[in-house]
Amino acid sequence: MKNNIILIGFMGVGKGTLARALAKKSSKFAIDTDDLIESLENRKIKKIFALEGEKYFRALEQKTANWIEDSVNNTIISVGGGFFKVDNLKKLGKVIYLESSFDGILNRILSSENAEKKLKKRPLFQVPADAKKLYNERITIYKNIADITINVENKKTESIIKNIMKLA
Ligand code: S3P
Repeated sequence: MKNNIILIGFMGVGKGTLARALAKKSSKFAIDTDDLIESLENRKIKKIFALEGEKYFRALEQKTANWIEDSVNNTIISVGGGFFKVDNLKKLGKVIYLESSFDGILNRILSSENAEKKLKKRPLFQVPADAKKLYNERITIYKNIADITINVENKKTESIIKNIMKLA
């Protein structure tokens, strides 16, 4: 079993923010699968979805998962909201699901300084009603696949990190 921590959860729940805070606290590196994919393709996720479609993007997620399995250890890894679909997730490290209600996630995005940017860059979060449907389809899957579930709604980064470090 690898010594990575994998943060999964719905779009906008704060995976990247928490990964970086956790990395700082534990003197490890944090990486993000969307960032890795953008560097691999030298273009934004939004563009990849628009020009190549979701299936192509999912194949890039699998390629990223394979690279992590082969080459990454001792790292905090935040992943895209649909990354749980890769076939080797459980081999990549300890999987932590960051749980929040859909309204909690929407509020988190809308109350952030760059809310518009945060929504724009996410092709599957363009219509809130569609995103909510996707959320409802996925929540049980996230929970079932995770080693640990941590509720993050209305919690401060510092207290979530403490919780993760205690449980992971
Ligand atoms: C997706 C989530 C996004 C990104 C892509 C697809 C999804 O990542 O990977 O837009 O299927 O939930 P975030 O969870 O970081 O927004």
